[in-house]
Amino acid sequence: MLSDKMQEALNEQVRIEAESSQVYLAMASWAEIQPGIDNITAFFYRHSDEERQHMLKLIHFINERGGFAIIPDLKQPVLTFPSIKHAFKSLLEHEEFVSKSINNLVDIALDEKDYATHNFLQWYVSEQIEEEALARTLIDKLELIGDERSGLYLFDQDILNVSVMGGGE
Ligand code: FEO
Repeated sequence: MLSDKMQEALNEQVRIEAESSQVYLAMASWAEIQPGIDNITAFFYRHSDEERQHMLKLIHFINERGGFAIIPDLKQPVLTFPSIKHAFKSLLEHEEFVSKSINNLVDIALDEKDYATHNFLQWYVSEQIEEEALARTLIDKLELIGDERSGLYLFDQDILNVSVMGGGE
């Protein structure tokens, strides 16, 4: 059984994962109307789907542990970006924020000796390491090849090889 505090904190994470899905969905929609970056667009759409999976995983966990998962309302995310590089930088900042929030959940679980929740959260801890590393790699590449037209073309090809997003399970 989840404590009230743990349940509230997990529900806050449901909101954060739902917001993450919206944030990347907005990036995907914006990328889709930029010419010639179909793979980057697909990357953002896929990322958005994965965040929804992260949210669902939490919802099931809360409900299975005797709590009640609350479906949140959501604020509108940022809709446009000055450049692709800006979008990826903002993706990294967002993931860093998510990581802090996951770490906070781990602290609460340990504090409460809630080892089942602690164990459940380990998947998210690993996922955040992967996601942050991936975002940094992509930003490094963008810095190297530039986000002018020809650089973006290469980056759009290259991102096809990137599929390490934790499988979205
Ligand atoms: Fe579900 Fe990218 O954090």
